[in-house]
Amino acid sequence: MSSPKFKSLRTTAFAPASIGNVGVGFDILGLAIDGVGDTVELTTLPDSNAIMISFDNHGQTSPSAIPVDPKKNTAGAALLTMQEDLHLPFGFNVKMRKGIPLGSGMGGSAASAVAAVVAAAKIVRTTKLTRKHLFSYALEGERIASGAAHPDNVAPSLYGGLTLSSPLFARQVKMVPLPRGLFCALVHPDVRVETKLARQILRPDINMQSFVHQSALVAGFVLGCSNADFDLIGESLRDLVIEPQRQHLIPAFENVKRAAYSVHGCLGFSISGSGPSVFALTRSRPVAEKIAHEISTQFRLAGVTSQAYISRLPARGARLVPNWRTPAKVNK
Ligand code: HSE
Repeated sequence: MSSPKFKSLRTTAFAPASIGNVGVGFDILGLAIDGVGDTVELTTLPDSNAIMISFDNHGQTSPSAIPVDPKKNTAGAALLTMQEDLHLPFGFNVKMRKGIPLGSGMGGSAASAVAAVVAAAKIVRTTKLTRKHLFSYALEGERIASGAAHPDNVAPSLYGGLTLSSPLFARQVKMVPLPRGLFCALVHPDVRVETKLARQILRPDINMQSFVHQSALVAGFVLGCSNADFDLIGESLRDLVIEPQRQHLIPAFENVKRAAYSVHGCLGFSISGSGPSVFALTRSRPVAEKIAHEISTQFRLAGVTSQAYISRLPARGARLVPNWRTPAKVNK
């Protein structure tokens, strides 16, 4: 029974897709992407223990594969953590629209959790609630999805842009400046890769030479982005450690990679998150479109359909949207 005083509130947030690792920085770098993401609408419920989850079927993915038990759902787990931490006297009806394909390596589990906590923060309206709090709540959602609270999708989805995040830093998320005029081509082949499994196949150790080389690449990439040194970005956007261990999860990977680099102006190419999506960075939209076309052609030749997303960088992070029907604006 609802209390006679209870007044239900409703709010909606959108959180963008993201590229975990950004090729060079396994589990620490993340890049927000424009124009594709998850939307969560919250309506408060009088019962403080209740979290009811449902899906809007217009999304691109089948909601049946996503659990509606809040403890097993990334948005639900993030909200449960928030509810417990803030002793919220109400529950949530959660309506989700998955714009991000499942198991795509585009940060879908993080985006749902981020959209949920951003919407909830609007309802909770306490000045004590900072983005750092929202980050830690959403991270609990990520833990549910992949078995590890890796922050490289939650951080860019929440903050936007290019993020560096690690529990080693007191303020876990650092923004890496991105030069104007960078574009990202992200292509998702229609196969699913579960992050949990893609993590299990990784060797638990790394040899000294790979460690030294990959450290140089991460430092070079971050420096290149910070100084708008596009040559250094191009030289550094390489994954010597993780990509060789995961590339077999991606159809026709060698051909796809070759096709991306065959386009003049492709700065670098790698796997998005744990795959199967792949991405490339470049300095113009037409070149990004050409790279996406070449990659999609290789997937098609391998018998796999795909979707391409072109994003101007930096892309915005999660935000409130007026209502469920509002489409996410794209930076042209
Ligand atoms: N850093 C994570 C991984 C990202 O590569 O396993 C998953 O999107």
